[in-house]
Amino acid sequence: MEPVRYGVIGAGVIASLTASKLKPGGAVKVVAVADVNEAAAQKLADTAGGARVLTDYHQLLADPEIEAVYIATPPFLHKPMTIDALRAGKHVCCEKPFVLTRQEVLDIMAVNREHPHLRVTCCSSRYHNTATARKARAMIAGGELGEVYRVHFEQVTGGYAIGTKFPAWRNDPAKNGGGISFDWGPYDLDWLSFILGDLFQPRVVFGTTGNYFPLSAERVPPCLDVDGRLAAEIICDNGLTIHWERRAAEHGPARHNVEFRGRQAGLDLCFLPMGAKQQLHHYAYRGAEDLKETILPDAAPVWDDTLMHSIHDLAAAIRENRAPSNTLEHNVKIQGVFDALLASARTQQAVRIPE
Ligand SMILES: NC(=O)c1ccc[n+]([C@@H]2O[C@H](COP(=O)([O-])OP(=O)(O)OC[C@H]3O[C@@H](n4cnc5c(N)ncnc54)[C@H](O)[C@@H]3O)[C@@H](O)[C@H]2O)c1
Repeated sequence: MEPVRYGVIGAGVIASLTASKLKPGGAVKVVAVADVNEAAAQKLADTAGGARVLTDYHQLLADPEIEAVYIATPPFLHKPMTIDALRAGKHVCCEKPFVLTRQEVLDIMAVNREHPHLRVTCCSSRYHNTATARKARAMIAGGELGEVYRVHFEQVTGGYAIGTKFPAWRNDPAKNGGGISFDWGPYDLDWLSFILGDLFQPRVVFGTTGNYFPLSAERVPPCLDVDGRLAAEIICDNGLTIHWERRAAEHGPARHNVEFRGRQAGLDLCFLPMGAKQQLHHYAYRGAEDLKETILPDAAPVWDDTLMHSIHDLAAAIRENRAPSNTLEHNVKIQGVFDALLASARTQQAVRIPE
């Protein structure tokens, strides 16, 4: 397959890591890098094997050699850059969070309708590529759990290492949307949407958020002005209810627990399958027997492939003329949950996502 010629916009932490994983002769070739910080762009261009360096992303978009862009700038720039890229005739792979509101996704969709051959995807799809996620999706789609009525998704991560620093945009809800909600939430919801498929039809959200706080005088999270925890009940059109909880940096141990419950069987797995937790746990009562647990072994994730999944998936989608595993339609749903969560947290009311 002819490699897809990418332009990279934003040469910060994640784009640099991504560029370091590119394989010569692979499905993707970086031909230009644009960053307002020329030194950062130059460094990434060197890593990518000598791409052109630009300081204005409009120049990159004007380059006819470029087929697709990878946008890795702070989140408040994702919408204008995606729209500019579509208008310039480029496919888009945008870092997460895709944008800041559901309306921003709708605005992008409107522009995409003028250029329907162009594909748009978000890197919140990274974890679609883990073997456990794919197997869980296939089992649910194949009816192996029966009617799925309940999902419990709980992720708790530890305190930040002392001395951790973040760029200022991460501490500004106007630039980042929120804190942990917009940092990890897109992965959570995209992963759930991938596994549940058509069952993921969020309609009502009742939720709370709370900001980070110092754990001790020494251990102060680098972003105190944004949320560090969320808990929400998401009710779907079909009656499926999802408990979504994510907390970080608190006085308690890390916890990773995801449960899918159906009328015929249950499934436990980890969002990030690591070490002993990389398997699927299948539960069922059969006749008069006690509850039976079956551990379904699976391949360990290849983290470099996971990091690169969305970029490679878009490249394949372009060459195979198919939709990527995360689409604008998915992002309307995902961003609808964010809007509703923030409104619910503000008003202490359940909030309905528009049809
Ligand atoms: N850091 C991570 O571990 C990580 C992981 C996954 C996803 N992400 C996501 O990737 C995106 C970028 O995160 P990051 O940590 O790499 O940020 P960063 O602050 O390290 O890098 C952002 C880059 O964008 C550049 N930039 C800003 N305005 C620009 C403009 N107008 N034109 C061109 N370049 C411009 C900055 O100069 C900087 O080099 C965010 O959406 C983030 O949520 C980050």
